[in-house]
Amino acid sequence: MTPYVADPVYLNGRFLPLAEAGISPLDRGFLYGDGVYELIPVYSRRPFRIDEHLKRLQATLDGIKMANPLSVEAWKAVVLKLIEAAPWDDQSIYLQVTRGADDKRDHAFPPASVPPTAFAFASPLVTTSAEVRAKGVSAITVPDLRWSRCDLKVVSLLANVLARQQAVEQGCAEALLIRDGLMKEGAASNIFIVKDGVLIAPPKTHLMLPGITYDVILELAATHGQPLVVREITEAELRSADEVWMTSSTKEILAITTLDGQPVGNGANAGLPGPLGNQMWQWYQDFKNTVMRKG
Ligand code: PDD
Repeated sequence: MTPYVADPVYLNGRFLPLAEAGISPLDRGFLYGDGVYELIPVYSRRPFRIDEHLKRLQATLDGIKMANPLSVEAWKAVVLKLIEAAPWDDQSIYLQVTRGADDKRDHAFPPASVPPTAFAFASPLVTTSAEVRAKGVSAITVPDLRWSRCDLKVVSLLANVLARQQAVEQGCAEALLIRDGLMKEGAASNIFIVKDGVLIAPPKTHLMLPGITYDVILELAATHGQPLVVREITEAELRSADEVWMTSSTKEILAITTLDGQPVGNGANAGLPGPLGNQMWQWYQDFKNTVMRKG
């Protein structure tokens, strides 16, 4: 059976089999969710937008006042070594850094002598089947119960986990998070809507993760002259949108065709992926095959 995690993994300066990679139960990632992560897609063994992912990792570390245990060059070397050792051409690389393990439990930061924990592994990139894409997926809306630094990619993901689980229990792929009447993003994705031919994207604020895929979509819209507005999206606008999409490094662009049990869109396209989503997906594939596969 093909494993989900390739050997070796990276842990604190060493490459070793997953079965031998041990972390202290006093690790603050385990005790407090005191850590950060990144997920980098790899196409044809080339990490996509690795500089941007490492920049976001640094911004998150700065946001939680943690020093980066590795330089950009050292992270790149780790990522390239994991890619090389893994059996797949298309992969996802997961990186995690926590504030390490002290010899006691104390909320405040441990002394500077406590080293951080750095962990990384490669797994196969799981893409959406053509069958699922042709139909789109269902989503629910839920109140956004997260803290107010959603721009930081931290491992304390309990609110996201509960929201996604609620979606799964209702046979849905994603939960869209509503805060103060505004739709911010999905439990693990950014959300775009289309209205009257205009693509609408919520702005990057402290209440949304600045997605790397989100940036690619804004760039593709600009390149192809697609009308685009970046502004807040109300819950009412979400419900009357012509199209709704979710985007992420692993989902790419995926149409949400049913929202809270109601078909998205009107007329002939109601409940089906819309024309602009299909077009953006194609632009994204073209971009992937020309640019991403070249690194
Ligand atoms: N999640 N918003 C949230 C809350 C996310 O967790 C993610 C990604 C995104 C999209 O970001 P990007 O385009 O950089 O993948 C938006 C990753 C895939 C995860 O948690 O596994």
